[in-house]
Amino acid sequence: MLLQRTLFLLIGITISALLFHAVPTSSPGTAELPFPPRRAAYEMETSGDTGNFRMPRNVIPHRHYHTNIGGKVPLGVMNKRKGLRIVVTGGAGFVGSHLVDRLIARGDSVIVVDNFFTGRKENLAHHFGNPRLELIRHDVVQPILLEVDQIYHLACPASPVHYKFNPVKTIKTNVVGTLNMLGLAKRVGARFLLTSTSEVYGDPLQHPQAETYWGNVNPIGVRSCYDEGKRTAETLTMDYHRGLGIEVRIARIFNTYGPRMCLDDGRVVSNFVAQALRKEPLTVYGDGKQTRSFQYVSDLVEGLIRLMEGEHVGPFNLGNPGEFTMLELAQVVQEVIDPNAKIEFRPNTADDPHMRKPDISKAKELLGWEPTISLRQGLPLMISDFRQRIFGELRDVSAASSSQ
Ligand SMILES: NC(=O)c1ccc[n+]([C@@H]2O[C@H](COP(=O)([O-])OP(=O)(O)OC[C@H]3O[C@@H](n4cnc5c(N)ncnc54)[C@H](O)[C@@H]3O)[C@@H](O)[C@H]2O)c1
Repeated sequence: MLLQRTLFLLIGITISALLFHAVPTSSPGTAELPFPPRRAAYEMETSGDTGNFRMPRNVIPHRHYHTNIGGKVPLGVMNKRKGLRIVVTGGAGFVGSHLVDRLIARGDSVIVVDNFFTGRKENLAHHFGNPRLELIRHDVVQPILLEVDQIYHLACPASPVHYKFNPVKTIKTNVVGTLNMLGLAKRVGARFLLTSTSEVYGDPLQHPQAETYWGNVNPIGVRSCYDEGKRTAETLTMDYHRGLGIEVRIARIFNTYGPRMCLDDGRVVSNFVAQALRKEPLTVYGDGKQTRSFQYVSDLVEGLIRLMEGEHVGPFNLGNPGEFTMLELAQVVQEVIDPNAKIEFRPNTADDPHMRKPDISKAKELLGWEPTISLRQGLPLMISDFRQRIFGELRDVSAASSSQ
């Protein structure tokens, strides 16, 4: 009898072992997920240099991802206590790194996706070692799959020096990069925010510029890779929203300044500050009467977060309505840094807009947002950062960047 029972037991074990090896297993938590439940970077198949992409064979559509089969917890619920999982493309750049600071400070987990074209690891170095920050070197013209709740899409060179460096790459970043990030939003059900620009108004015929103004843009000029690129990015964003029900937000950002801007990026505030600190003449293009408004970076970050968290798609102008001519700005820089700094006039660049000033009534009313930091308050904060980088740590910084 005992021998018979032992024999049955052995046969049972053998059959189970055979079945275990022959049939593929699936755990309840991951059965319907073709990728690990937590986020990770996955290279996707691309169809060459055209920017078209195909989903990899193993990725299932977004609607399946959200079915709650097998006890999976929906993203929003799972993250209520832990904070959100957020992608910031271009997060190693000027604006992106300040945004990352705010998101990390409020308890979110942030994945920065950046190709380091104009961004620097140094901008995020103070978060290294923090498990809530991941930094991925990746070009947004290639698709990527990350499991997140929100996508802040900033990746794009913002200064004329950089976006004119390789215009074809700039337009590709704006069009294909945005398409890829919208595709990601669709797949994982994330909310998507596009950082567009006041450049969509071109050389405006309406002043100040409200969001209802459609702009006056040269479609074939040297700046078109940037301004038409952003206009196309806005179109894609709205079509994904209207056609596919993706939750989107659009910010039209006006000139922003602050610590961590590239030192020599040709943007007027960084140019003047770096020149005044180096005792070089301040270069004014044209007659210096063209106007711009200057927003301190923390004001912008506050606006971006309010927009993302709010209920309105936009577009929203985010900028400081205080308007300065280039000559007035040069005078403020002289006052704050060096009263003896000389001003040097140069011929103006093509398609340089004559006036720029945001009408921010919509953001005030619907987001409860307006800038709080004046140029005279913000400039000293930027100057101390520039001073340190130019005179203090410049050698260390360039050594570190060249080893990237
Ligand atoms: N700063 C402003 O005054 C201003 C004004 C209007 C709009 N914006 C928009 O805000 C965003 C951020 O601007 P910023 O001033 O921080 O510029 P930035 O150049 O400092 O940052 C852009 C970041 O995007 C990264 N990047 C560029 N191309 C990429 C690609 N193909 N793949 C991955 N990463 C890429 C860069 O390496 C960099 O880190 C941009 O989209 C810009 O168009 C900025």
